[in-house]
Amino acid sequence: MRGAFIVFEGGDRCGKTTQCKRIVEYLKSTGIACEYMNFPDRSLTTGKIINDYLLKKTELPDRAVHLLFSANRWELEPKIRSLINRGTSLIVDRYSYSGVAFTSAKEGMDLEWCKLAEIGLPRPDLVCLFKSRVDVVSQRNGWGEERYEKTDFQKKVCENFQLLKDPSYWQEIDAVGSIEEVTENLKPLILETLEKAKSRKLENLW
Ligand code: TMP
Repeated sequence: MRGAFIVFEGGDRCGKTTQCKRIVEYLKSTGIACEYMNFPDRSLTTGKIINDYLLKKTELPDRAVHLLFSANRWELEPKIRSLINRGTSLIVDRYSYSGVAFTSAKEGMDLEWCKLAEIGLPRPDLVCLFKSRVDVVSQRNGWGEERYEKTDFQKKVCENFQLLKDPSYWQEIDAVGSIEEVTENLKPLILETLEKAKSRKLENLW
């Protein structure tokens, strides 16, 4: 039986990384085979270039950097499929939806063009979209260190996530409670998805 493919999405500093890790810890503690994965994976060949770009050490044309983010996912595509097919569930911090929502928030970038490089990647069984208020997250430590941490840009990103939202496999998560409360609310949803995935075929984007 295959594992589930679950993605957490949202604007910057909305708390989803913390929740991803807490969910992985929780699942492991109950004996469920699962792994944490995150995009961009900065340890990969493409990830190093992306990291320099995000830290504003290098400049790249918007389309080129978009394709690098996509290539970063394609680098791990065989691993994603193999783990899932072997029964390991994946809890993934950002995926193609961030790719599209962030690039298409840039001037002159078309959302449909942004989706093209993602065609054929495995489609998650569940996307948890973390709702957050930009005025709240922008108060968090270190805000502004990375390229996209700007209030107006993040608002546009959130609007783009709404355009990508597919109610058949997306759930919005209210990320304003305490860390513990958010994890507790997530648990039943994650367990239900793990169960359903066992008898469902892994689909592709889009
Ligand atoms: P992180 O803070 O989750 O490591 O993500 C780094 C930044 O990269 C964040 O601002 C979102 C952005 N991003 C993209 O622009 N395209 C992508 O495909 C991904 C995965 C992230």
